[in-house]
Amino acid sequence: MAIPKLQVALDHSNTADAINAAVSVGNEVDVVEAGTVLMLEVGSSVVKILSTLFPDKTIVADTKCADAGGTVAKNCKNQGADTMTCICCAEVATMIAAKKEIDHIQVELYGDWTYEQAQSWLDAGIDQVVYHQSRDALLAGVTWGEKDLNKVKKLVEMGFKVSVTGGLTIDTIDLFKGVDVYTFIAGRAITEAENPAQAAHALKQKIVDFWSE
Ligand code: 5RP
Ligand code: MG
Repeated sequence: MAIPKLQVALDHSNTADAINAAVSVGNEVDVVEAGTVLMLEVGSSVVKILSTLFPDKTIVADTKCADAGGTVAKNCKNQGADTMTCICCAEVATMIAAKKEIDHIQVELYGDWTYEQAQSWLDAGIDQVVYHQSRDALLAGVTWGEKDLNKVKKLVEMGFKVSVTGGLTIDTIDLFKGVDVYTFIAGRAITEAENPAQAAHALKQKIVDFWSE
């Protein structure tokens, strides 16, 4: 089983803060994400800055795209993104159109979705999903638990590369020990830490330790 990657999600509301955070933690992570909050506020040009700063890292544009997949993907690719996200309720046609323009599409799993839909993504050649606990649901009191673990395991069994995100802390990693998670995506646990580089390093170290045992 491969060691899961660590992705930092930059969900700042301005470019300067996002780039400062990226520069301080970039060496500790495998993947850099232009977060949805950031892209909605400053646009896809921030992806170009990130891809220029980190030419050897995977750059994800977390667009949560619902329509016009081909155009959005082309724009993200032009700015240097390797990967773009589509929301799970998008038409498969949107995902397929996006996949033609960029290296990888990840389907963001929020709210209601079915394993039947998931199979249709696989059938369309889309094999990456992001299992996401909504920030707002977490704020309303939802927590990570067995129900999430079981869904992640089932998606892995189906053949997906499954990333996991949403309010992750270093303790959330424990729940997934031994599961073939593709990437752990952490935003605030890294960027809002007193020492973001140290927080990212500790997360990565825990992942490496757990998945090397
Ligand atoms: C929210 C997102 C965030 O990027 C993701 O949830 C990671 O951020 P955090 O760890 O702060 O929740 O896509 O929709
Ligand atoms: Mg995100």
